[in-house]
Amino acid sequence: MSNNTEKRNILVTSALPYANAPLHLGHILEHTQTDIWVRYQKLIGNNCTYVCADDAHGTPIMLKAEELNKEPEDLIQEIYANHVNTFRLYDISHDNFHTTHSEENRILSERIFNALNEKGLIEVKTIEQLYDTSRNMFLADRYVKGSCPKCSAEDQYGDNCEVCSTTYDAIELIDPVSVLSNTPPTIKESEHLFFKLSELKTEIVEWLKNSKVQNPVQNKLSEWLDEDLKDWDISRDFPYFGFEIPGYKDKFFYVWLDAPIGYLASHINFLDKQNSNEFEKFWNPESNSEIYHFIGKDIMYFHTLFFPVMLSNANFKQPSGVFAHGFLTLDGEKMSKSRGNFISADDFVKTLDPEYLRYYFASKLSTGVDDIDLNLEDLKQKVNSDLVNKLVNIASRSANFINKHFNNELSKEIDNNGLIEDFINTSNEVSNHYENLELNKAMKEIMTLADKANQYVDKMEPWVLIKDEKNLELVHKVCSTALNLFRILTIMIEPVTPKLSKKSFNFLNEEPCWDDIKKSLLDHKINSFEPLLTRIEDDQINQLMELKNV
Ligand code: MSP
Ligand code: ZN
Repeated sequence: MSNNTEKRNILVTSALPYANAPLHLGHILEHTQTDIWVRYQKLIGNNCTYVCADDAHGTPIMLKAEELNKEPEDLIQEIYANHVNTFRLYDISHDNFHTTHSEENRILSERIFNALNEKGLIEVKTIEQLYDTSRNMFLADRYVKGSCPKCSAEDQYGDNCEVCSTTYDAIELIDPVSVLSNTPPTIKESEHLFFKLSELKTEIVEWLKNSKVQNPVQNKLSEWLDEDLKDWDISRDFPYFGFEIPGYKDKFFYVWLDAPIGYLASHINFLDKQNSNEFEKFWNPESNSEIYHFIGKDIMYFHTLFFPVMLSNANFKQPSGVFAHGFLTLDGEKMSKSRGNFISADDFVKTLDPEYLRYYFASKLSTGVDDIDLNLEDLKQKVNSDLVNKLVNIASRSANFINKHFNNELSKEIDNNGLIEDFINTSNEVSNHYENLELNKAMKEIMTLADKANQYVDKMEPWVLIKDEKNLELVHKVCSTALNLFRILTIMIEPVTPKLSKKSFNFLNEEPCWDDIKKSLLDHKINSFEPLLTRIEDDQINQLMELKNV
């Protein structure tokens, strides 16, 4: 970032993982994409804060706790500790990781609800729902099965038919059965609260016009907007694990109401810990702050249709952009625990360095919403050929000369300024790729430069030159140049491989930021070289394959 550009104030979030299970590699894909973007923003000097939280409410969490004979509060606390630990293993640099089951979130959810209510945007309607009399609870769509009202296919869930794709209301199912008790449910009336989305179409269109949203997401949203919008049911009846709605006994906010507000709750929790009272200023609709949400493509609906207009109508700033990514598949198939096609995030690190996965994901991520496949053989080849044989190789083949013959000191001059210039110029392109989330293109540029650096060393052959005393100075310059090229690449790839870059900077005896790419490191004492990264061996891949199939 050049000096005359103002620092941007950016808040970034990843979607809040549900607090009912450990993380899988799909979660890691999302947090890696977000983390790389955040680290890049920090590296170029912007004020960037990255917050997240566990999504702790809803029926599945309540039922899971019941099944484990626990209080939901205890379950979500255990999962919270597990999630925090896993994210740390993958170097995900959340500035704050909170939970939606928090006082901050309760206060903000009530505040936003009350504001919408005062604006006349909340309506109470009586609806009919399936009710499980043996469990004394209303049944959400996924807890009831029956035959499709259109094609009569058996064993279909309460929202849509997997055979003929018809969507319907659960009470239309033929011969419905509660998944929880295996008994036929009854139909019962209940009052629900609705957010009047049907009145807000123009506001949604307006938000879409003014925000950064990739084309595929924009198209999807336009499709939804082509139809009439239905009001959104934001309440759930007792028993429910969540926040009770003020003024309505035994009615709770639907988990998807308070979940995105959890972004704000995590932010205020973070600021409170810093003794900062910047929250209101940051979220004021007029503020120049920027807010970006990273999400998977399955939850675009909530983030683009409901959330922005909920915020604006409660007098909060709207998201500046929503970035959606595709789903992670394993060996071309959907990840599925029951089908044995699944690797948990905690298992992966038992045999492989998580940084390998960060690089692999970066090399595949772009702005598209296509699914991204993880193939372990492909991961091995990519890491060994790019990170080990290209990037780290530049340092390992040059460092020894400096350590052994030149007292660990870099030369006073560069041997090939043209090459250094080329690297500096390309760093602008890499910078744009990071900013635009074209991470695959950024990685490609970096590896093309790594090839150039290696070709330079190949051509200069310092190991031949060193045999003749009169070439000493040239060897010094050649190896110092190679290490400077390596240094530029190490800065550029730092958002992706922070550990590798840190080790490399220790070796170079320096802590550079992005702007330092423009300055060469000359007449400077470095440290002794130590291996930076090891190749992935077949054994490790085989061990991981075994974990995949348990
Ligand atoms: N709790 C909600 C999000 C609330 S945000 C206010 C949720 N939780 S989740 O645990 O199911 O998913 C969290 C994120 O992980 C979502 O963005 C989701 O798209 C993403 N992924 C879940 N499975 C995934 C893959 N297989 N691949 C990539 N991302 C995936 O939804
Ligand atoms: Zn059907």
